[in-house]
Amino acid sequence: MRRLLPAAPAFLLLAGCEPMQSTFASHGPAAERIAHLSWFMTILFLAVTAVMWLLIAWAAKRGRGTLAEHAPVDIGGGQKWIAIGGLAIPLAILTLIFVLGLNLLAEFPIHGPHHHATTPDILIVGHQWWWEVHYLSGSPGQEVTTANEIHIPVDRPMNIQLESYDVMHSFWIPALHGKVDLIPGHTNFVRIQAGEPGNYAGQCAEYCGAEHARMRLLVVAQTPDEYAAWLDEQRKPTSEPASADAIAGEQVFLNAACILCHQISGTPAGGRVAPDLTHLASRQYIAANSYPNNTAYLEAWVTHAQSLKPGAEMPDLTQFTGEQLRDLVAYLRQLK
Ligand code: CUA
Repeated sequence: MRRLLPAAPAFLLLAGCEPMQSTFASHGPAAERIAHLSWFMTILFLAVTAVMWLLIAWAAKRGRGTLAEHAPVDIGGGQKWIAIGGLAIPLAILTLIFVLGLNLLAEFPIHGPHHHATTPDILIVGHQWWWEVHYLSGSPGQEVTTANEIHIPVDRPMNIQLESYDVMHSFWIPALHGKVDLIPGHTNFVRIQAGEPGNYAGQCAEYCGAEHARMRLLVVAQTPDEYAAWLDEQRKPTSEPASADAIAGEQVFLNAACILCHQISGTPAGGRVAPDLTHLASRQYIAANSYPNNTAYLEAWVTHAQSLKPGAEMPDLTQFTGEQLRDLVAYLRQLK
């Protein structure tokens, strides 16, 4: 243990490089309030612990000798201490925290659309083990379907409607908000807002089966202009394959089982049970933000999904020749 200790500061530094997934690194109003309460509770609990250790030390010092002499136990002598330290003080502290927690809940309601909200901006449906994302829009043809990566403009509250396709999941972007469950047959709402541009990692926070840990998601907060440009791109149909590889790859894709589950708008691929691939190449990660979106991982994902994410619906597709696989991935890589 002692040998490991000098390395501890290095670990802390490394942890500091990761901007993500900490309740204490808040970047939005809701998360800020949660972080304040978390700090308050942490400090309060440390203070209580310190007082307890002082009392134990004091009792040990004061009582030295009496136990050895088998002094008669003073039954009833500690009643007052039990009433004060065991009941009154814990009751007061726990009540205080309970009330503060309820206040926070009331400030950020999750049941029913917020009274000051119109329609939700985004609908998120939880699947085992990925996030289906729909940007809702008043006008038809303007909706956007994507998966696992949500873009939002900074400083604008985004209302999100949460539903589940199968079992209970929980939407959690620690930097932006607390956990809100996705419950089958029930609709919850959450409002997220980011104070500055950046990538904020999230995670399913309700155990939902074997790959619960790889049910991750990413929030990309952008300036309003960047966000508008992103949304425009997402509204367009998929890009036509241009290179010979990609043209051949499209045929590989359309002739394989891929189209039964995945959708690519503007092509016959119309499956609805797996992530929409229309703009796959614009996303940073694959497999619910578990692996980087690059050629090597896409090839690995197509052929060995069951090794990268055992139990996921994506099967190992081993029927392709090397050339077909390269063409297929070339096609996927240009779905901007
Ligand atoms: Cu979805 Cu855990």
